[in-house]
Amino acid sequence: MVQIAVMGYGVVGSGVVEVLTTHTDHIAKRAKEEIGIKYILDLREFPDSPFADKFTKSFDDIINDPEVRVVVEVMGGLHPAFEYSMRCMEAGKSVVTSNKELVATKGAELLKVAQEKNVNFLFEASVGGGIPIIRPISQCLAANDVIEIAGILNGTTNFILTKMIHDSMDFQDALALAQKLGYAERNPAADVEGADACRKICILASLAFGRHVYPEQVHTEGITNISLADVEYAEQWGGVVKLIGRVKQMESGKLQIIVCPMFIPRESQLANVDDVFNGIMVRGDSTGDVVFYGKGAGKLPTASAVVADVIDCVKHFKARKYLFWGEGSPDYVEDYLDDKVSMYVRAHTDNEALALGNANHLLGKINHLTRKNAPAGEIAFVTETMPERAIVEKLKKLSELGVTIENTIRIGEL
Ligand code: HSE
Repeated sequence: MVQIAVMGYGVVGSGVVEVLTTHTDHIAKRAKEEIGIKYILDLREFPDSPFADKFTKSFDDIINDPEVRVVVEVMGGLHPAFEYSMRCMEAGKSVVTSNKELVATKGAELLKVAQEKNVNFLFEASVGGGIPIIRPISQCLAANDVIEIAGILNGTTNFILTKMIHDSMDFQDALALAQKLGYAERNPAADVEGADACRKICILASLAFGRHVYPEQVHTEGITNISLADVEYAEQWGGVVKLIGRVKQMESGKLQIIVCPMFIPRESQLANVDDVFNGIMVRGDSTGDVVFYGKGAGKLPTASAVVADVIDCVKHFKARKYLFWGEGSPDYVEDYLDDKVSMYVRAHTDNEALALGNANHLLGKINHLTRKNAPAGEIAFVTETMPERAIVEKLKKLSELGVTIENTIRIGEL
């Protein structure tokens, strides 16, 4: 029997305990060992839990018990999750986590210690919940050079955008519905402002390209500025608005990486990823596009990925799983303003014909968009592809000519 500890008894932690205790025989067959839960670490009281005898408030119980060989970190947040995970590995215990903030911020350090101590640090559940994506990139696609990864990585914002697109709900109503259904947190900032998707694309980029990308290196925009007008113009253009995390490697070796809403064409495989689902496209030089789709969040999908990692740890006590990336550096990521993009622009003017003429003059050929019942003075267009810095400069000149820029959204040719 292999003993493990679970740190954190929230949504994911209780799911991990549930999966381990309801699938005991099946898991033992897969792991070739029985897996027992010796401790559950949580500061709260759970006197009525069937696992009441396993609860502890002291991390020392776990770190000082040589019987515990795998520790599941599902507390969330950076501290003390980082210190506890480090200490566990330094004490020779493998660590499994679903904590994307931890992996996105400290992954390189944690993987280095795992390597030095010959233990495993696994985090399949940190991206895409129950969708297999870490193992496929690190193992199944290992013979490829990854060219690009682009994905819908956040279920809450995808649900909100789906309601805006299909039910014409405005952002605030769709967010309130997401909160009512338990998808969005009471404080939804990390989802709607893009931080959650940013952490996930950092993890995928680090894994695929071999060096750590830190969240603060990624230009990140959320969906709080998206209006129904933008959704209608996207439809008129031939697509939908989605919050996309995207990374590409340039010939120089540097990465282009961004999280932002994008217009994506209706034919794109990601355009029909709706509701709380996630979709991740990995473009390999040999495979072409491979797309992963499924539930990116939720108690049991996420717990399923965590438990699969626990099984892998138990099967690989002797032969360590290979999962590694090195430290990053400030110049590893290109300035997003140097990326070439085409941009949708929505603006307000007192003189539509003059404003469109000026836009054409400044930006080259523009693709003028219209929508039914547009308020007087509203104009919208899509620019040609050029460095984003040039678009920003030209739009500044356009606003000096009396045009108020209300929103800009990048076009994603996915
Ligand atoms: N808040 C996240 C989402 C949960 O909505 O996708 C999973 O990371």
